[in-house]
Amino acid sequence: MFTKTVLSATALLARVATAGSAPGFPIDVTQNLTVTYGNNTVSPGGERIPRPETAAAPTVSSPVWFSDERGPGQCVLLMVDLDVPRNNSRVQLVHWIATNVTRSVPISANTTGSALDIPSDNPVPYLQPSPPVGDSPHSYTFILMQQPRNFSIPSMYADLADNRVGFNVSQFAADANLTTALAATWITVQNLTDVPSNTSFPPPRPSPTGDGEGSSGPASGDASGAMIGGRTLWTAISTAVVAVGFAIAL
Ligand SMILES: *[C@@H]1O[C@H](CO)[C@@H](O)[C@H](O)[C@H]1NC(C)=O
Ligand SMILES: *[C@@H]1O[C@H](CO)[C@@H](O)[C@H](O)[C@H]1NC(C)=O
Ligand SMILES: *[C@@H]1O[C@H](CO)[C@@H](O)[C@H](O)[C@H]1NC(C)=O
Ligand SMILES: *[C@@H]1O[C@H](CO)[C@@H](O)[C@H](O)[C@H]1NC(C)=O
Ligand SMILES: *[C@@H]1O[C@H](CO)[C@@H](O)[C@H](O)[C@H]1NC(C)=O
Ligand SMILES: *[C@@H]1O[C@H](CO)[C@@H](O)[C@H](O)[C@H]1NC(C)=O
Repeated sequence: MFTKTVLSATALLARVATAGSAPGFPIDVTQNLTVTYGNNTVSPGGERIPRPETAAAPTVSSPVWFSDERGPGQCVLLMVDLDVPRNNSRVQLVHWIATNVTRSVPISANTTGSALDIPSDNPVPYLQPSPPVGDSPHSYTFILMQQPRNFSIPSMYADLADNRVGFNVSQFAADANLTTALAATWITVQNLTDVPSNTSFPPPRPSPTGDGEGSSGPASGDASGAMIGGRTLWTAISTAVVAVGFAIAL
């Protein structure tokens, strides 16, 4: 049996409404993972992060961990983009899978979170968010899951690092026997710095709340307005689906 140990989570509970996994992420999580890029700790969930700040993998800490009869366990950390345009739809891309993740400091009652020790050698190495120029913001969920004893990546996923697009995180979790999610958070990244290629993007994923993407977080702003205008324009230019243009659309 796993025993979940909850650290003093008062400060984190205050953010539950806006954190956890991204809207539409298929695995529900209530605890908030703390993800820090450089000196920016993501808050609230869904915060728009300038892409240049995402070049290096973030540091991560968790308010929860677990133990079993053999002591503190290990975790698997995943990072998944839900918004990759393919075939006039939105598919997943796995940006990162780190296994054998441990805590760098022991759990104690007076800490609000435990920094994670993430091995440098990962089955799916960290890949920087690179949404295609002009596309709507992509959401990237970080999720920490209990790692079963004797865990290994199922052999059918041996080439995952080279075949990241079309990932299915719920299928992967089932195949890898990752049954318990501990904590999650998410960011958004958008690239409006260049002139988009002459093509159209599939519509953003529908929001589960019907809000439309980006409308509930700090993410919506001038950039989104420009994006919406731009998307209308590109739709007028061409409604064709051009999958080939997204070879680097991560
Ligand atoms: C955050 O990091 C950037 C780049 O290293 C630095 O310029 C900035 O002063 C830092 N901000 C704070 C509040 O530490
Ligand atoms: C936007 O995308 C282009 C093309 O991939 C890239 O060269 C540029 O660095 C990106 N801009 C930012 C701010 O990430
Ligand atoms: C995880 O740890 C186990 C046991 O130490 C080791 O056999 C395995 O190679 C490690 N896996 C990775 C991806 O580091
Ligand atoms: C892990 O593998 C070892 C060696 O095969 C086995 O003795 C042990 O029972 C396994 N543990 C679990 C939790 O499956
Ligand atoms: C897109 O459609 C093509 C043709 O039907 C298919 O081969 C490919 O796997 C699809 N790509 C994704 C990411 O679903
Ligand atoms: C992912 O896998 C689950 C479980 O097999 C399945 O129900 C779901 O339809 C899949 N999603 C996609 C986008 O293929």
